[in-house]
Amino acid sequence: MSEAVNPSLVPSHTLFTGAKMPGVGLGTFGSDKYDADTVSEAVYRAIKCGYRLIDCAAVYQNEDQIGRVLSRIMSEGVVAREELFVTSKVWNDRHREVIKACKDSLHDLQLQYIDLYFVHWPFPNYHAPKCSGDSRNPDSKPFSVEEFMDTWRQCEQLVDMGLVKHIGMSNMTVAKMEAVLPLCRIQPAALEMELHPSFQQQELFDYAVEKNIVPIGYCPIGSPSRPERDRTAEDVADTELPQIMAAAKAHNLHPAVVCLKWAVQRGQVPIPFSVKETQFISNLKCATEDPLTEEEMKQIAGADKDCRLIKGQVFLWEGARGWEDLWDLDGTITK
Ligand SMILES: NC(=O)c1ccc[n+]([C@@H]2O[C@H](COP(=O)([O-])OP(=O)(O)OC[C@H]3O[C@@H](n4cnc5c(N)ncnc54)[C@H](OP(=O)(O)O)[C@@H]3O)[C@@H](O)[C@H]2O)c1
Repeated sequence: MSEAVNPSLVPSHTLFTGAKMPGVGLGTFGSDKYDADTVSEAVYRAIKCGYRLIDCAAVYQNEDQIGRVLSRIMSEGVVAREELFVTSKVWNDRHREVIKACKDSLHDLQLQYIDLYFVHWPFPNYHAPKCSGDSRNPDSKPFSVEEFMDTWRQCEQLVDMGLVKHIGMSNMTVAKMEAVLPLCRIQPAALEMELHPSFQQQELFDYAVEKNIVPIGYCPIGSPSRPERDRTAEDVADTELPQIMAAAKAHNLHPAVVCLKWAVQRGQVPIPFSVKETQFISNLKCATEDPLTEEEMKQIAGADKDCRLIKGQVFLWEGARGWEDLWDLDGTITK
């Protein structure tokens, strides 16, 4: 099969090092719905279709299967290593052994280096994958600058060792970034954060852009297949927002694809998940043709509902009032 989308037509972002990162990636969190083989097979087909950015994480429990397909596709000569941009993330229970955790991901992914390695969550608070929404770990603690910086120093060491090209943060707030950025020897190249039309995080988005940190948007379609534990009655479906539906009708597109067009044109890097070929091709292709109008962009900017989907309640510590405590809503770090 030839590439469905020419990767050179997908807009890219220049990181602070001068390296380029593709402007659309493929998510690999299969949630409770798709097993590791299904996800890794989708990675293989998506690369064949023109994807070059693959968003991985140890906690998705599929890096070894993805490693096998990365190795296969490179040995087939479809892509060279330097054409791919692969991310991974250290999970919360390994903040004190980041180098070991990264080496495990490198081993599983069968790579010599990772392009961008994230601290997945800014807390060392562990919960087992697929645990229920009300489970809590009694060892959980609120954010600590010292603890986070200890983790970050190890990430910086990974860059020094040549094991990763860039390091990044994820699930941060402006207050936490303000506290840690001045202490970083190597700045984060990117910030992975929840971003979709009903949750635009304008302040954090602007903050990252201003600091030359590229915003990567997760759940860019509003994660319609997210697990039950991440659903509440108040959640808004992005694909049903009137502004999204109007643009979808005007462009004769699925509303999911309009969410992605908005993301690309706003300036973030969406990493939509899909294992279905027609979906993942249109998710990449949409960045290369038929842009939304200025008026449509304006309308969607007005569709923000401050609707956070991934609330993170399983990371709460004893004495915390609710999931809002993870997100420093009053602008100061919640202790
Ligand atoms: N850093 C973090 O803490 C963090 C947190 C969450 C996610 N992530 C990353 O972000 C990625 C994306 O987030 P996500 O998977 O939660 O949500 P998402 O990308 O917003 O939604 C994915 C779902 O949308 C549907 N979809 C995809 N393309 C479509 C299309 N063209 N038309 C119609 N429906 C379409 C599919 O549902 P069906 O399969 O039902 O068709 C798919 O499973 C993850 O895979 C992961 O890599 C990172």
